Amino acid sequence: MKIQGTTALVTGANRGLGQAFAKALLEAGATKVYAAARDPSTVTLAGATPIKLDVTRADDVFAAAKIAQDVSIVINNAGIALGAMLLSDQGADAIRKQLETNLFGMLNVSQAFAPVLRGHGGGALVNMLSVLSWASLPSTATYSISKAAAWALTNGLRNELREHGTKVVAVHAGFIDTDMAAHVTAPKSSPADIAARVIQALLNDEEEVLADDISRQVKAGFGSTPSHYIAGLKP
Ligand SMILES: NC(=O)c1ccc[n+]([C@@H]2O[C@H](COP(=O)([O-])OP(=O)(O)OC[C@H]3O[C@@H](n4cnc5c(N)ncnc54)[C@H](OP(=O)(O)O)[C@@H]3O)[C@@H](O)[C@H]2O)c1
Repeated sequence: MKIQGTTALVTGANRGLGQAFAKALLEAGATKVYAAARDPSTVTLAGATPIKLDVTRADDVFAAAKIAQDVSIVINNAGIALGAMLLSDQGADAIRKQLETNLFGMLNVSQAFAPVLRGHGGGALVNMLSVLSWASLPSTATYSISKAAAWALTNGLRNELREHGTKVVAVHAGFIDTDMAAHVTAPKSSPADIAARVIQALLNDEEEVLADDISRQVKAGFGSTPSHYIAGLKP
């Protein structure tokens, strides 16, 4: 698909990867990029159009979709990562909170914007997933549940939106150098590199982006025994 001259919306675009997505879209020639944020006053990217959008609030999401009727690319980027261990007292609560943002938030935005995208000939819905949609680390098990669910949601949305002509793009990546992974000492990709890879995928009409080496290795390892999701990831 083309990006030049289009309008896009990115959730969680006030910082981190979301800001990099918004910047990359503008640099690729998008005429307008809505930088959606819980607090739009925190959007600092020059040239972006701030819009209020908390993905967990259906009223907020539908209000944003009413304003942003011109979008043909939506990037479901907003997400949270909580560190609780699965069997700890905080485990179940952490899973619920992450599902609320990483799964139901993605669903809210997809529902609200599906008719808008359809109205522009289909467009694209990009869902930011993770290599942790496929594998777990001890400290990320509750997050991995939400990202695995978001992967399944993405596959389901692809089926439902195909008849609208909407391309659904799944993006998998390992650690990225943002606030979310500030505590991580393992190698991290730059947000700009991940965003550039996704822009290229949109231009090439790809439906899955394996944005870094670890994502490519884990996906390739599905066919080996034991797979990474059994043997564990080396962070
Ligand atoms: N960093 C990594 O290592 C990594 C790796 C793979 C995938 N990812 C995924 O990449 C995406 C972006 O993460 P990041 O690394 O940029 O994280 P980040 O630096 O923590 O930024 C998260 C963004 O999501 C927003 N957000 C959180 N809850 C929200 C809500 N309810 N409604 C709207 N916005 C909300 C935050 O807004 P506020 O400023 O209001 O909190 C912020 O803009 C996430 O989906 C994450 O799971 C990250």
